Amino acid sequence: MAKKLLIAANWKMNLSPHQASVLTSRLAQKIVASRDVEIVLCPPTVDLYAVNRELDTKKFKLGSQDISEFEEGPHTGDNAASMLKGWVDYSIIGHSERRRDEAETDEVIAKKMAMAIRNGITPILCVGDTLLDREMGHAVRVVNDQLSVCLSLLTAEELGQIVITYEPVWAISSGDGKGNYAKPAEVAPMVTAMRNSIEELFGEGVGTSTLILYGGSVNPDNAKSYFEMPGIDGALVGGASLNYAQFCDIVASAVTVATS
Ligand code: PGA
Repeated sequence: MAKKLLIAANWKMNLSPHQASVLTSRLAQKIVASRDVEIVLCPPTVDLYAVNRELDTKKFKLGSQDISEFEEGPHTGDNAASMLKGWVDYSIIGHSERRRDEAETDEVIAKKMAMAIRNGITPILCVGDTLLDREMGHAVRVVNDQLSVCLSLLTAEELGQIVITYEPVWAISSGDGKGNYAKPAEVAPMVTAMRNSIEELFGEGVGTSTLILYGGSVNPDNAKSYFEMPGIDGALVGGASLNYAQFCDIVASAVTVATS
C-alpha cells in the first residue's frame, strides 16, 4: 500500500533560535531523505532564520505557524505572506490555539488561506471539533461548517494546492499517556465526511484528491495507525516533534508505510 505522506512538525511557541537550529541539524543527521515522505518543520517565526541556515533542503521544507490576512501595513506583530514567501513553502493556518488565543474566526482564516495560496505558500488548514461538539453529536456539522467558510475564497483548482488537517481540539496535547488521541476508528468517519463535504462544495474528484492529515497527540506508538489509514495523507505533530528521538521514530514509521 505505497502512498506519499506528509509530516508537519508544529514546534508551537517553543525553542530559542539556537535550540531550534541545534534540533534542525540533529534531525538532518538522523533522518534519511525519502521521496515518499515530505517533512515540514514549522518553527516560531523568530527561529526561521536560524533553522533555514541549518536546513538540509533535500530532507526538509520550512513552514510558518501563521500568516497575516493583510498584505502589509499597520498590523503590529504580524507577518505578511509576501514577507514569508521565499522563506517558507508551507504555513499552518487556523490552528485551534490561534482560534482560542487570538479569537481567529473562520472568516479571517479564509482570508489567510487565500493570502497564502496567492503568494505561493501551501496552507495547512486546521479544522476540528471540541469535546462539547462531539458530546452533543455536532462534530461533523461543526467541522463541515469550518470547511465551508475557511475554503470559501478558494477555487476548485486552488484546492489542489492546500493541505487540511483534521485536528480534534480534545485530542491536542494529551501526550500524557492517557491515550486521549482520536482513535483511527473515530478519525475515519470524520475524514470521509470532510471529503464528501469538499466534493459538494467544489465538485467531483476534488474531495478525494485533497490532502488530509490527522493531528492531535501523534506519537511514536500511534503514528503508524494513522499513516496506514485510507484517506489519511500524513500527520501534524506537535509535542512529539520537539523530541528528537520521538520525531525520528514517527518519520521512520511514515517511511515504512510509504514504501511498503
Ligand atoms: P500535539 O499538537 O501533537 O502536541 O497534540 C498537535 C498540534 O496542535 O498541531
